[in-house]
Amino acid sequence: MRKMIIAGNWKMNKDIKETFDFLLPLKNNLIGQNLNVEVVVCPPFTSLFIASDILRETNIKIGAQNMFYEVEGAYTGEISPKMLKSVRCEYVILGHSERRRYFGETDEIVNKKVKKAIEFGLKPIVCVGETLEERENGETFKVLEKQIKGVLEGLTYEQMRNVVIAYEPVWAIGTGRNATPDQAQEAQRFIRELVAGLFNDGIAQNLTIQYGGSVTPENAYSLLSQPDVDGALVGGASLKVDAFLKIIKAGETASVEKKN
Ligand code: PGA
Repeated sequence: MRKMIIAGNWKMNKDIKETFDFLLPLKNNLIGQNLNVEVVVCPPFTSLFIASDILRETNIKIGAQNMFYEVEGAYTGEISPKMLKSVRCEYVILGHSERRRYFGETDEIVNKKVKKAIEFGLKPIVCVGETLEERENGETFKVLEKQIKGVLEGLTYEQMRNVVIAYEPVWAIGTGRNATPDQAQEAQRFIRELVAGLFNDGIAQNLTIQYGGSVTPENAYSLLSQPDVDGALVGGASLKVDAFLKIIKAGETASVEKKN
């Protein structure tokens, strides 16, 4: 059965001290617990090293928020998959809508990054999602299909085993307006069926598809208990330990219920 993943996307938040102040209590709360859900924190690059040091020998995983698709060279300001591996990252968020919107990332660029991440043993959390305008124009499925085909283009079945998808409707990100459980379920079932068609049913059934966009302790359980919602990519609510722990707990409850 596929793994439920609760990941915190810190975005451009938390310096070194704030990273300590967040991760120490998180670690103390989760230590020794045998969790069904995989917990991932994605700090900014400057905190990755210290984060992986603090979380050494815990089952909390580290992810980066972006990377470049080259290994090294004259790419001022960029970070490579090799560098992320050296600070013990296991995951990397790719194609987040903020990267697409502010930094011009396209499906083609994201696709190159996905392939490179996997080559270096990183698990990409690949983000897709429609804008409000696209939803209102009835284009949600069309947009998702284009993005999914684009970002997964040319991946082998073997590579697909390392991919995580995050369905993040752009209108729900940072707005306090989450997708309803039904909207998330509908879109995520669509993505799974699409992947079944592009690859095969086994790969689609094993694929973790997270929901992201204004996930809070209050709405997490209703979203995570949907059959095709296998986790959450959490922005704002992942910045406070209490809120993040509550979302992890909601994931744990939903995950145990799905197993039974
Ligand atoms: P949000 O962000 O939870 O603050 O809406 C989610 C994301 O962008 O990954």
